[in-house]
Amino acid sequence: MPTVATTPFDDQKPGTSGLRKKVTVFQQDHYTENFIQAIFNAIPAVEGESFEGSTIVVGGDGRFFCTEAAQKIIKIAHANKVGKVVVGQNGLFSTPAVSAVIRGRQAKGGIILTASHNPGGPTGDFGIKYNARNGGPAPSSMTDKIFEASKELTAYHISDIADVDLSKVQTVKVDDTFTVEVVDSVQEYLDLMKQLFDFATLRKLVSSSSFKMRVDCLHGVAGPYAKRILEDELGAPQGSVVNCSPLPDFGGGHPDPNLTYAADLVTAMKSGEFDFGAAFDGDAVRPRMCMCACVCVCVCACVRACVRACVRASMPTGSALDRVAEKLGLSLYEVPTGWKFFGNLMDADRITICGEESFGTGSSHVREKDGVWACLCWLSILSNTGESVQDICTKHWEEFGRNYFTRYDYEGLKTEDANKVMSHLGAMTEDASMAGKQFDSGFKLKICDNFEYTDVTNNEVTSKQGIRFVFEDNSRIVFRLSGTGSSGATLRMYIDSYQGDRKQCQVEAQTALKPLVSLALQLAKVEEFTGRKEPTVIT
Ligand code: G1P
Repeated sequence: MPTVATTPFDDQKPGTSGLRKKVTVFQQDHYTENFIQAIFNAIPAVEGESFEGSTIVVGGDGRFFCTEAAQKIIKIAHANKVGKVVVGQNGLFSTPAVSAVIRGRQAKGGIILTASHNPGGPTGDFGIKYNARNGGPAPSSMTDKIFEASKELTAYHISDIADVDLSKVQTVKVDDTFTVEVVDSVQEYLDLMKQLFDFATLRKLVSSSSFKMRVDCLHGVAGPYAKRILEDELGAPQGSVVNCSPLPDFGGGHPDPNLTYAADLVTAMKSGEFDFGAAFDGDAVRPRMCMCACVCVCVCACVRACVRACVRASMPTGSALDRVAEKLGLSLYEVPTGWKFFGNLMDADRITICGEESFGTGSSHVREKDGVWACLCWLSILSNTGESVQDICTKHWEEFGRNYFTRYDYEGLKTEDANKVMSHLGAMTEDASMAGKQFDSGFKLKICDNFEYTDVTNNEVTSKQGIRFVFEDNSRIVFRLSGTGSSGATLRMYIDSYQGDRKQCQVEAQTALKPLVSLALQLAKVEEFTGRKEPTVIT
């Protein structure tokens, strides 16, 4: 097979969820090819089994550079002796769909082309991540090896076959050992959803003239899935799903379904016209249900509690789930940020449902968070209870109290400024005078540390995952640096304020959070170290 000499790049270290960089970085000569070859070199070293004759799944969220990258991967896969590449039509696959197809076909793994919630287009971000044979994001043991391999590359293998026409569903037998199967991106995922949900019952609710919903796909890859499932299969009126054609630049928008970038949905919901609203990020992993994601997971957990008994969320997520788990006697795991940490627990059959503050919600049907699944899960809850979203939340708060939660993102900081904030906070975790400290605002410190996680399935320790201030009343402040940005640094400040007094559970969230936000800003000295008076995004 043709071999191309190359020199290594020193910046191909995967972050929270794969390698994310500006499109222009991936477009440099050899950059994308090097990283793909690093995957093909590293995975056999970890798994002890080569790619020869294997099946891999390839697809992405349709952002700029997806199809070029898919064609490169097909050629590199051929040269690295892969037997079959299953690729979504037009190079499209949602991230949970790739996970479902890897699992359904018992493939060796998959390569997902997405920078998820990051902006796209020629000047935006691109990303590549490897998912392993369980369908989940490569664990650190693999991503570390990929990074090592990327630093040692002297050549990559790429065959000179013609581009495969990805616009048609077809099977192309390239030669005796290599096939490319271009598949309908939605079908296998839809088949899985039909096994999980009662479509006949859902149809009654979704197609009813008294139920109105708005689902905004923000021009990400969720569009084809949501439209086919909600409108074609479940009978929602045409037009219920909006912005549903995937665009390379997400129509100039930002595919993060937070209050800032999914503002149209928030405004539509405030009009009172809709019974249910959801928005998705670029690769359809995060749903925003017009409510706090923590509540979303909790309610799902409660409803499912009669079936299975395990839940968990990632560490910076509001601790509402802790209260549910305690009351219902469910096991609870607190993992670092990033879905890769949930996979092992699911493989060991310890958890069935999980979620995180950035809206990612999922279950063990795949090894990724799954926005469309979460949407169907909520619709099932509504159809089974006959209650409104508002009623369900109010009842939830009456039973468990309410965790008011917000996240402040300070994007585009100078790395050295962000590091100053983290070092300053880090020093507090070492400061003995912090133990049991009583602040003027009434909060008494219980824990102040840099979160460390031990995976109970393999004893692997992951340290320095975020600085936590946990108070006696179970309110919490967490700081960490984002691992998904493509340049500079993003500081995230998470505020989780518990209100146990049932009469105080309907207060406007930012008002309820004010005392803890002030304390957090006072502790971190964000303005002093970074010059920023305000965050870029408040969720
Ligand atoms: C962000 C989110 C995190 C999510 C990850 C991948 O990571 O905060 O919850 O798992 O994207 O989608 P971060 O940028 O904070 O490292």
